[in-house]
Amino acid sequence: MLIDSYGRPVTSMRISITTSCNLRCVYCHREGVSSAARELTPEEIARVVEAAVDLGIAKFKITGGEPLVRSDIVDVVEAISSQRGVKEVSMTTNGTLLAEYAQDLARAGLRRVNVSLDSLDPETYKLITRSTYPLQKVVEGIDAAIEHGLSPLKVNFVVMAGLNYEEIPHMLEFARSRGAVLQLIELEPVGVSRDFFEKHFVPLDEVEKALAQRAEKIVTRALHRRRVYYLRNGGVVELVRPFHNTEFCMNCRRIRLTPDGRLKPCLMREDNCVDLYPALSEGSLSSVKKAIVEAVKRRRPFYQLRRSEVG
Ligand code: 5AD
Ligand code: SF4
Repeated sequence: MLIDSYGRPVTSMRISITTSCNLRCVYCHREGVSSAARELTPEEIARVVEAAVDLGIAKFKITGGEPLVRSDIVDVVEAISSQRGVKEVSMTTNGTLLAEYAQDLARAGLRRVNVSLDSLDPETYKLITRSTYPLQKVVEGIDAAIEHGLSPLKVNFVVMAGLNYEEIPHMLEFARSRGAVLQLIELEPVGVSRDFFEKHFVPLDEVEKALAQRAEKIVTRALHRRRVYYLRNGGVVELVRPFHNTEFCMNCRRIRLTPDGRLKPCLMREDNCVDLYPALSEGSLSSVKKAIVEAVKRRRPFYQLRRSEVG
């Protein structure tokens, strides 16, 4: 198993396959990738996955941009899921194209999806996504995904003061009624202006207190020490609270692959990537593995680092 110099095991990989997207969400951090010179082919992605599996990484999440804007997305899923030793392939999507793809994705081996949906109000949805895409398409996408067994489905909701904070109860009911998990995400200060962050960031302490009162069970996941609240009414809510949370980073178990074939040790930094592309084009599995080991070596818990730098 891969263990970094802080004792953190690395068990999953987030594979960003494109920087393109059909929405322009106000808060989007684009997985910390500002631009990509190329997009890896399904075959190239399969090689990285093969090497990663050999090193003990068993879970893969496909992200973007928006993964479903890639016309070969079903091939990408198949390329990953067909590798020996892969335990789980999931995807984060904005859901706009999910209704069309859900069945093919499930057939290709996708197990679960996270669908980003930050509002159930058409006007707010428009404001947040800066697009005219009908919100209804996302709801249809969620329902299609559940119908084709892509579950447990998670609804990703980035909580923002003045935009959607008041909608949390409504969203919880929406998710509960479908047997979906509501994932409440604290806004991250990456890819957004300082002004935007200061205006809209809201810590989730109050929300957690309210959830704790309604919960029959609270479970802490290994990944990021995320807390999951199982409510008495059947609702399930997971909290993602990275900001100034050293526990979060100390329990980060993932490494990221960028669309152009760089390994990114941390979402928050772009200055310590390892370029895998030369090893990939060489076609040598052992060079790809070496690059993964090197990227793991460069992992630093971001918030801990920041705190010690600040003193
Ligand atoms: N802060 C928090 N979450 C973000 N996401 C994108 N940008 C940010 C940000 N600045 C979330 C999206 C999506 C997931 C991939 O990342 O909501 O669900
Ligand atoms: Fe970014 Fe996802 Fe929004 Fe697209 S849908 S702009 S990738 S957060």
